[in-house]
Amino acid sequence: MTQLATGQEKAFLQQIPELHPSYRLLLGPGPCNVDPRVLGMASAPQLGHMDPEFTRILEGTAELLRQVFQTKNDLTLCISGSGFSGVEAALCNLLEEGDTIIIGNLGFFSGQAVDIARRIGANVINVQAELGKPLDIAAVEQACKEHPDVKVVATAIAETSTGLLQPLGELERIAHAHGALFTVDAVCGLGGVPLAVDAQKIDACYSGSQKCLGALPGLAPVTLNERALQVIKKRRKPVQSYYFDLENLQRYWNGDHTYHHTASSNLVYGLHESLRQILEEGLEARWARHQLHGDALKAGIKAMGLPLLTQSGYELSVITAVKLPEGVDEVAIRQRLLTEYNIEIGGGFGALKGRLLRIGLMGYNSCRRNVDTVLAALEHILPECGWSVTPGAALAAADAVYRR
Ligand SMILES: Cc1ncc(COP(=O)(O)O)c(C=O)c1O
Repeated sequence: MTQLATGQEKAFLQQIPELHPSYRLLLGPGPCNVDPRVLGMASAPQLGHMDPEFTRILEGTAELLRQVFQTKNDLTLCISGSGFSGVEAALCNLLEEGDTIIIGNLGFFSGQAVDIARRIGANVINVQAELGKPLDIAAVEQACKEHPDVKVVATAIAETSTGLLQPLGELERIAHAHGALFTVDAVCGLGGVPLAVDAQKIDACYSGSQKCLGALPGLAPVTLNERALQVIKKRRKPVQSYYFDLENLQRYWNGDHTYHHTASSNLVYGLHESLRQILEEGLEARWARHQLHGDALKAGIKAMGLPLLTQSGYELSVITAVKLPEGVDEVAIRQRLLTEYNIEIGGGFGALKGRLLRIGLMGYNSCRRNVDTVLAALEHILPECGWSVTPGAALAAADAVYRR
């Protein structure tokens, strides 16, 4: 006889009805809306994590990642986790207790590497940049001189909390001149800003699926070169973490596919599709698209008389960090955008809390329609949140960028 749900179960379900999530335009610092193609692929029939058809998909995804990272690294794979799982996986494989790491700290996100490295027991030298400014190269060089045993120099190419694009050339030169590995957090940058892991001599690079890669959150691409791999092979003790052990993960992803953990086939399908889209568009064209829409948005913001936080010349194309004048209410602006326009944007972290708007144009969302939409919404809301604007000025300024 078929058992039916009890009255109590039915009553309980009344309290927690079926989901009908709102449609939000995700113009914050990530996640961003993914292309329907990606969403569609992510809902394809599931495969088991050890199914040979799926392990072939893992290899294909790793190959697509090598193209997007611009690397020939064999060890290229994804951690099943968010961006910080990629940061932690790289650092806990490369560092052992007592090792010295110099961290070029650009703000909240690249700064978390300090906490992660300390938990590993490393000797952490935190070289802090002023918020919105690039690293002081001389300070990093000085830190390397003062710590000749430095094993890793780590920073981020794109600091999401301040909208900064950090040039890497000098940092790579300094790190390698002092015999250290050079590692880069590209959680926000990969797929949106120019990055070439091999050409830029980056030893380890880690990212996240939910930003410029244009996939769903939950995967962290990681790539390590032979130099970094040799460091892992020479460890005194095994990697502290089972889940982040990169050599075992490499076997599962690109080797004999020995079981390590249950990877999500559907998340990988989505990433596989978004990576194919990136290569269909072409990396250079994609970087240029992100730059164009970022420029148009910034022109519109400036035309409303609002300053950018980021030092001129170091502005990140994919995130626009708008410094709010005294008395202009960050929370009220963001709330109204969400409730009246279904638009999500980001706010400030730490010292910038309540004083910053962070608008992201990444992946599928980096387009003119979204630039005009968010500028028009801000033109309407700002005067009621303490900042008067000239109606139409922002859209005209953005239009001028598109007419260039
Ligand atoms: C530069 C950077 N690093 C790390 C992270 C952490 O990524 P996640 O939130 O996916 O763990 C972020 C997220 O915004 C980021 O922008």
